[in-house]
Amino acid sequence: MEKTITVIRGDGIGPEIVEQALRVLDRIAEKFGHTFRYREILAGGCAIDACGTSLPAESLEKCLDCDSVLLGAVGGPKWDGVPKEIRPEAALLGIRSAMGLYANLRPAKLFPQLAAASPLKPEIAGKGIDLMMVRELIGGAYFGAHRTGIENGEETAHDDMVYAEHEIERIVRRAFGIARKRSSRLISVDKANVLDTSRLWRKVARRVAAEFPDVEFADMLVDNAAMQLVKNPAQFDVVVTENLFGDILSDEASMITGSIGMMASASLGDGTRGMYEPIHGSAPDIAGKDLANPIGTILSAAMMLRYSFDMGAEADCIEAAVNAVLDAGCRTADCMSAGCTRLSCSEMGRKIRDAI
Ligand code: IPM
Ligand code: MG
Repeated sequence: MEKTITVIRGDGIGPEIVEQALRVLDRIAEKFGHTFRYREILAGGCAIDACGTSLPAESLEKCLDCDSVLLGAVGGPKWDGVPKEIRPEAALLGIRSAMGLYANLRPAKLFPQLAAASPLKPEIAGKGIDLMMVRELIGGAYFGAHRTGIENGEETAHDDMVYAEHEIERIVRRAFGIARKRSSRLISVDKANVLDTSRLWRKVARRVAAEFPDVEFADMLVDNAAMQLVKNPAQFDVVVTENLFGDILSDEASMITGSIGMMASASLGDGTRGMYEPIHGSAPDIAGKDLANPIGTILSAAMMLRYSFDMGAEADCIEAAVNAVLDAGCRTADCMSAGCTRLSCSEMGRKIRDAI
């Protein structure tokens, strides 16, 4: 098969981790007889430096005209002072919204090899963590009206949190579909004891649940969910929630698995095209030092093969290679433990390639 992939290396460690993912994709192409064409675009801080805006129109066009987008990371303290409309994060939100990527899939899985790196007690982590966070990605407080001004003599800010029924319905339905392919358990997380958006969320989720009688369904309040994630993460299989809650809970879910550097994500809309990125940030403190963990980006590329290109065997192959390399005791600095071999970002990439 031939696929065109729009590549956003981005800022900080973005370029080095994306490089490793592309070399892994090259190896897959060679092994399975595919052709992957990479089209690099500027977005994020590097685009601000080069073009004065984080998302040049030409970059966005290339995201809308390709088979999928692979992104490293954007942002960094260098651009903290720029106006909010052109901040690096605005590029990410702009792409998500323009591509209609309402479903953000963030698997959080504890690799047994990394159990010692989990901050949870062994008796809790030992029960296993393997959950899929399904986060609504283009609604809620992120995309409501934002404004700051003087009200009653003092500076006052507003961020409107808005959800329409159809926005809730499509993400909840997607989450039920995913649950069906896993262990058929879904928890919908909201704050229905306080927020109207959450009361609507709960009503719609329960209505959709009636269409999936084979999936065990429950609601959970977000504060309780935050607690349950550290108390008993093994209870979760698929979790669906709104944008802001999902942002927060997905970082929590990834951290309990040992290293945020391992975690991949897929952002999908109704078609097959998606955007794939590790869930960690641009880590400017270690940028350019060949220290970063490329596994989150490599596993994101695997998700691209699985979800957008229908290349399940190829994705399995990458995941198996990652497992084999971890089994062999190879670790980057972020998840290093006693008795393991410490590798740089590029060495880790090479090991995974060799294992394919
Ligand atoms: C994420 C990030 C982004 C978000 C930021 C960088 C805008 O934290 O992908 O989780 O909040 O969605
Ligand atoms: Mg986040």
